Amino acid sequence: MPVPRVMHTASPPPDVPQADAAGIEARVADLLSRMTLEEKIGQLAQVSGGRDHVPDHLRDAIREGRVGAVLNEVHVDVVNELQRIATEESRLGIPLLVGRDVIHGFTTVFPIPLGQAASFDPDGVQRAARVAALEAAARGINWTFAPMIDISRDPRWGRVAESLGEDPYLTATLGAAMVRGFQGDQSLGPGHLAACAKHFAGYGACESGRDYATTSIPEHDLRNVHLRPFHAAVQAGVASIMTSFSDVNGVPATANTFLLTQVLREEWGFDGMVVSDWDSIRQLSVHGLTEDDRGSARLAACAGTDMEMASHTYAHHLASLVRDGEVPEARIDAMAGNVLRTKLRLGLLERPYTNPADYPAAASAEHLQAARDAAAACMVLLKNEGHTLPLAADHLTSLAIIGPLADDAYEQLGTWIFDGDAQHSVTPLRALHELVGDRVTLRYARGCATTRSRDDAGFAAAVETATQSDAVVLFLGEEAILSGEAHCRADIGLPGNQEALVEAIAATGKPVILVLMTGRPLALERVAERCHAILCAWHPGTMGGPAIADILFGNVSPSARLPITFPRVTGQVPIYYAQKAGGKPPTHASYIHIDNIEPRAPQLSVGNTSFHLDVLWTPLWPFGHGLSYTTFEYHDISVSAAVVPMEGMVTVSVEVVNTGHRDGDEVVQLYIRDLVASVTRPVKELRAYRRIHLTSGERQVIEFHLTAADLAFYGGAMQRITEPGRFRVWIGGSSDAQLYTEFELRGDTLTLPASTTS
Ligand code: NOJ
Repeated sequence: MPVPRVMHTASPPPDVPQADAAGIEARVADLLSRMTLEEKIGQLAQVSGGRDHVPDHLRDAIREGRVGAVLNEVHVDVVNELQRIATEESRLGIPLLVGRDVIHGFTTVFPIPLGQAASFDPDGVQRAARVAALEAAARGINWTFAPMIDISRDPRWGRVAESLGEDPYLTATLGAAMVRGFQGDQSLGPGHLAACAKHFAGYGACESGRDYATTSIPEHDLRNVHLRPFHAAVQAGVASIMTSFSDVNGVPATANTFLLTQVLREEWGFDGMVVSDWDSIRQLSVHGLTEDDRGSARLAACAGTDMEMASHTYAHHLASLVRDGEVPEARIDAMAGNVLRTKLRLGLLERPYTNPADYPAAASAEHLQAARDAAAACMVLLKNEGHTLPLAADHLTSLAIIGPLADDAYEQLGTWIFDGDAQHSVTPLRALHELVGDRVTLRYARGCATTRSRDDAGFAAAVETATQSDAVVLFLGEEAILSGEAHCRADIGLPGNQEALVEAIAATGKPVILVLMTGRPLALERVAERCHAILCAWHPGTMGGPAIADILFGNVSPSARLPITFPRVTGQVPIYYAQKAGGKPPTHASYIHIDNIEPRAPQLSVGNTSFHLDVLWTPLWPFGHGLSYTTFEYHDISVSAAVVPMEGMVTVSVEVVNTGHRDGDEVVQLYIRDLVASVTRPVKELRAYRRIHLTSGERQVIEFHLTAADLAFYGGAMQRITEPGRFRVWIGGSSDAQLYTEFELRGDTLTLPASTTS
């Protein structure tokens, strides 16, 4: 039975004055002093909603103070009723956190996070999160389980789609931008959501890219790579952190005291809330860490997991654990205090109800335009042989549009779109009709029923369509279901019979443009040889179609860059740019192909470097790669001083010139290498980037400033240090940048407090 709407006394005030930190702490202490043990434990329970009514058991549980948060309830009337029960019928009247996976949009779907990362544009990413927050808040949601900032270097893992890619610095900067977008720059005012950085930590390092598999991460990699974005999120004021499902070096993250207490609370000073992942406390016994739910509740609570999502081990066992002296009550106070602090920061106690009329309509023209801009900014032009793109509507009489993803309103939305509405989607086929349908004859053939179809029943019609047209645009890749949680692939080639379709179409001799719609990098070496141009559109969201059409016909010049490496073949994985040199780095001089090895040849003396016999060691497209319709050149890289004192700053500058005939955006990327260090450092690391706009012929000198903090790393003693010595700095348009200079940092090794980051 639907719930009647709650009467609102008035619209929520435009802003509730944020209590100062001391005021919030006083209110937390006051509430705790008035709560029973059971009520405090009640705050630690997050239970599932998701109905169009409030079931009796939930009504009773909230009334009795046994629930602190719900998730997956998106009917605003139901949410308001839940809040009414909590605030008016429970003894202390504490409202609920209402959580939802608002990952890349809500009704209006933006590109998948991996696509957004390709924009290298923190402002754009922040705007997308802001729109998502507004649409979700209009339903009464006040907490999102985003950003997902797991470093993702294995594209077999389905959750790369949700991530911001392989690089700690890019993920840190964009993750912080998402936090600001969800939570607001200043305070968690109306229309904002509490953000949740997840999954703490190291989840992306699951063995063989198989979701939930174990992770073994040396502590210095954990700190230098995986923890870095989380630290940035904490510094950006993220309200909550979600633990990872995985086992991290023998202790599942949900019970990992080192991560949840030592690093997060003691080193970083985080005072927000830690939530488990779905059922991950109960799963501690499945991991073999505990015997039963009681043991799981004890370990998770003592390690630092404040709130339990979905399972009930806290509700069932924490009170008796406290009474039996196995969990100190002070621990429960701290956990409940973290939850209450989050609610107070959200202004929930002053403003528990939601009036949708106070919010802009979902999928408004403004939101759709923002999604279109974001989609255009995320598309990476991977290849463009002989200027195949942009297409010129005036010179083209006909165009074949082929592929299972050309006209699929749902699949273009990607993974994690619980609330996305495919009815708002504009597909590429529709957008192309709208853009050039009056001038160019457009012929459409699906080619394959789905990206996974194994038959070739649609090939003949597709080939016929191609033969009749001047050029072909293929819309291939992966359906949404092939990436995301628990959707991993062992072979990341084009699924199904799509590669054969590419071959059949290429055999027509027509110019072939591949628009790749995917949730992960694919291994496309053979496919790439057969296409003249390739545009990676990811899963671009609601307005993917118009953004693709704009790029294909040159209304927009592509400007995005790969946030993750594209391998040639799956067997190269994991392959990422910031690798270590090793003692025998690969060189062209010593590369031997498998075909060139004589049977029973004596052991090769010059070939002993690090490569596979059957594929080059280089990726198909490196991190940071992306072409434009114009061209950029880099000149005159220089440093402000060849020798820099440890406490000083070095300015690295370069001249960037738009040498092409169009205006365009360039992502200027700065990489460093610490040439000699007490622990080996990656061959290149992104340390700064800037998206700039240059008109045709324009030149601009770009400066980056580096201090010792930008050159720091966790060394052997797990302290954050900057060591003196030589540094190489590259600036260019991808991680393959060749233009570099060097400087020397002089002084004693500097130890930086763990609480600072660059
Ligand atoms: C499990 C996922 O791992 C997590 O990312 C998500 O937020 C929760 N389920 C809630 O849906």
